[in-house]
Formats: sequence, C-alpha cells, structure tokens
Amino acid sequence: MANPPATATTSVDKPIVGSLSEVHADADRPLPAHPVTTVMEARDLNVFYGDFHAVHDVNLAYGRNEITAMIGPSGCGKSTVLRCLNRMNDLVTGARVEGQVLYHDQDIYAKGVDPIAVRTHIGMVFQKPNPFPKSIYDNIAYGPRVTGMKVDSMDDLVEEALRGAALWDEVKDKLKQSAYGLSGGQQQRLCIARTIATKPDVILMDEPCSALDPIATARVEDLMIDLRKDYTIIVVTHNMQQAARVSDRTAFFTARPDETTGNRTGLLVEYDLTSKIFSNPGDKRTEDYISGRFG
Ligand SMILES: Nc1ncnc2c1ncn2[C@@H]1O[C@H](COP(=O)(O)OP(=O)(O)OP(=O)(O)O)[C@@H](O)[C@H]1O
Ligand SMILES: [Mg+2]
Repeated sequence: MANPPATATTSVDKPIVGSLSEVHADADRPLPAHPVTTVMEARDLNVFYGDFHAVHDVNLAYGRNEITAMIGPSGCGKSTVLRCLNRMNDLVTGARVEGQVLYHDQDIYAKGVDPIAVRTHIGMVFQKPNPFPKSIYDNIAYGPRVTGMKVDSMDDLVEEALRGAALWDEVKDKLKQSAYGLSGGQQQRLCIARTIATKPDVILMDEPCSALDPIATARVEDLMIDLRKDYTIIVVTHNMQQAARVSDRTAFFTARPDETTGNRTGLLVEYDLTSKIFSNPGDKRTEDYISGRFG
C-alpha cells in the first residue's frame, strides 16, 4: 500500500525543539520511516460543510499498534479528519466527504457499509468526558449490550475494561454508583473503558486531556502508551508536549486561505516520525508552529 507523501518544501537543518524531541515516547522504540502495517488510510480525502471546503486532499496512513498525533492550529480540520475515520461526520448536517477512508483496505464510505458497524471497530473518545447518566457498570455494559456482543460474563467484561483503562482499583467498590460522581479524569478513563469494552481495533481521541489537570493528563497519557500494544490510537491534540510524549508519528495540518473567498481550507503539511517532526521538520510551516511562532 502506498505510503503517505511527505510534502516537505523547506529543509530545516538543526533541531529546534530539543526538549520535546528528547522526551519522545519512541526514544527506546525505534520505528521504521513508514508504518509496517497500515490499519487505516485516508486517500485524497476532501471534506465539505455545505459549500465550505474544510479539508483538502489529505493522504495519511495510520500504523498498527502505533499512536499517531494530528496537530495544527485551530480550524485546520483535525477534528473533521478524525471524525471521517469512523464516519462520525455522517451525523453532521451538511457534511460531505470525498475520497476514500480505508480500514484494512476496505473503504468505509463504500456503498453498503454500515456506519454503526464501522464504529464498533473504530471507537472514539471525545474532548469532554461524556459518560451516560447511568451507573459506572452500566456505562461499560451499554456498548456490548446494544451491539449484541456475545459475552460470557458481563461482570468480567466490565472488570476487564476498567482494568484496561487503569480505573478498576478506584471504582471497584462503587460500580453501581452514578458515573457523574467521578472526577473529570476518572470520567475520561471511564469513557476510554467504555470504548474498549466493545473491543474495537482503533481508538480515535479528540483532545482527550484538554479538560483534565496535569495529574489526570499524565494518567491518560500513560494509559495511551499502555493501550498501544493492543490498539491503534489516533489522537488530536493541541498540547505539543503531549504529542511529543505519547505519539510515534505526527501529522501537522494547517489552513490556507482561498484567494477568492478567503475561506480557510485545512491541509496536511507534513507527516513523519514524531522525533523527526519535533527535532528536524521538513517544512518551515511545521517549524514555525511547533516552535510557537504561529498558531
Ligand atoms: N459542523 C460544522 N459545520 C460547518 N463548518 C464546520 C463544522 N465543523 C467544523 N467546521 C469548520 O471546518 C473547519 C475545520 O474545523 P475542525 O473542527 O475540524 O478544526 P480543528 O482543527 O479540529 O480545530 P480546533 O483545534 O479548534 O478543534 C473550520 O473552519 C470549522 O469552522
Ligand atoms: Mg477540533
């Protein structure tokens, strides 16, 4: 399968954000230049909201058991691209998607593909923790129940998901209590547990830590690195340190104003190993962004 093109236009010779590149999660996990196994791939992806061209020609391959970060200034289309990856944009009135999104080589936008089935393989965690107004237990059991998953023991599945999200020890004695009684960081881990309960393959996360304090953020980041061995994770973040700390590869997006309408259309500038993006990016726009000169 074709690897995503690197659209470098400017060469940047020396490391510019040393402290970020040093903390990168792949320091002890050298990765090849391109994903060995591609789980998902956006091909010539264009997204429109009515007449507004929000995202232009994105080509991007996401590797198995890797964490891919999507970064860039506000409005450049990160959430739009992320939502295309499990057809969440279907739920947005006026949204239209062109191009392909391949999941294990199958186009999830092809005729006859059931978006609900897509979302059982490709789960999503949102920016604001959004537990259901139910007990902790029922939040986890909900997905398996409504999707008709074959489950030998729901108690075991709930425990497994909560353990997987590093939340079990904190909630095991209050499973029947409302999820709303949990702290924000606990609620976000509950939402991650709820996502993994249906045994997806890919987890999409849209700024999963933006509502969390630094301690809860660190816990979620540790959890992401831990989950990487079983899942493929694609995360949108505004937090440069977070992208540098957790991700294996980083895609930098920006928005370019249309000359006639002035509308800003999002595009992918550069996609590479996170260590490379944060130490020696190929494009001046990436350099300006990660060094804080833009965005
Ligand atoms: N439902 C919608 N209807 C119309 N336009 C939308 C809709 N959602 C997003 N857009 C527009 O599409 C563009 C990309 O938005 P998107 O939310 O994907 O950006 P983003 O990179 O995630 O930004 P942020 O970092 O602020 O979350 C923006 O110009 C935005 O105004
Ligand atoms: Mg967004």
